Amino acid sequence: MSDTILRVEHLSVDYKIKAGWLSAVNDVSFSIDRGKVLALVGESGCGKSTVAHTIMRLSIDHNERIGGNIFFEDRDLTKISEAEMEKVRGKHIGMIFQNPLDSLNPVYRSGTQVAEALRLDGMSKREARERVIQLYRDVQIPNPEERIEAFPHELSGGMRQRVMIAMMLARHPQLLIADEPTTALDVTVEAQVLNIMKEMCDKENASVLLITHNFGIVAEIADRIGIMYAGELVEEGEVHEIFRNPVHPYSQALLAALPKIKKSEGTIRTIEGTVPRILEKKPECRFANRCPYADETCRCSSPEAKFIEDGHMVRCHKR
Ligand SMILES: Nc1ncnc2c1ncn2[C@@H]1O[C@H](COP(=O)(O)OP(=O)(O)OP(=O)(O)O)[C@@H](O)[C@H]1O
Ligand code: SF4
Ligand SMILES: [Mg+2]
Repeated sequence: MSDTILRVEHLSVDYKIKAGWLSAVNDVSFSIDRGKVLALVGESGCGKSTVAHTIMRLSIDHNERIGGNIFFEDRDLTKISEAEMEKVRGKHIGMIFQNPLDSLNPVYRSGTQVAEALRLDGMSKREARERVIQLYRDVQIPNPEERIEAFPHELSGGMRQRVMIAMMLARHPQLLIADEPTTALDVTVEAQVLNIMKEMCDKENASVLLITHNFGIVAEIADRIGIMYAGELVEEGEVHEIFRNPVHPYSQALLAALPKIKKSEGTIRTIEGTVPRILEKKPECRFANRCPYADETCRCSSPEAKFIEDGHMVRCHKR
């Protein structure tokens, strides 16, 4: 069995908008090994959620055009039928969104919803109830016998997010995609919930693609980090290596600005200028208008992704 669970190759996503095609993701490649956590970070609008949704083939407006390949255990998810993809979602790849109220049905008791996920795999009602109570215990929900009877609105944000984690992990997916799953929570609860998620995944040897603005969490639970800018992955590598030695000018600026990042704003407003919306793919570096090292080469040719050492990718002419 290969160690790699997910391999994204040259992924590009353009959205059709009034003004033309918006390049939301461009030539993004990365892979995730079994049992490992890759964190994707970057300013608002740089394409993180688009990557997550494209892997799951969850199209919101049906206005995108997709290039590249997404291999999940050697099956290309861009090529399989919708019926096959439905079997992959939930069972093999789980996804946790930012707001659990969008994913939990308000009219059903929380435990019933988790049990339903288990019943999809043929468990009896009674077995499912016992398993849900155990899962609630695993995600550290106090008094699980009582809490399974609660409706989503009767639970706190942190408890709802734990229910989501229990529901997603109930079916033992090999990969969990978590798109800012805890941004709505306060910092202490956020750390607790993400640590629980990580522990549960460790037990199952499940991998995680985590999208977050919280670098503290990245340092704590991620193995690798991918830094995105204007739709491109500009640097990717082992977390400690990149925290110690960020090489791309954008990563350097982002990490140098860390203490000033305000979580409540949900954006990283620390570098002069804003992320450009790319309506026309030009031969240039997308970071050139904000980069202190930009020169003629940067303004007239696009840097390619290259490995500066084993497992450390950078996309910059100067590195
Ligand atoms: N369905 C859509 N149609 C048109 N444009 C879209 C659509 N979805 C996203 N976009 C645009 O694509 C770009 C990337 O958006 P995306 O949501 O992937 O960014 P993000 O990194 O997840 O941002 P955030 O941190 O704010 O969640 C943005 O410019 C966004 O406005
Ligand atoms: S390619 Fe040039 S503009 Fe782009 S990040 Fe590197 S130095 Fe800066
Ligand atoms: Mg997003």
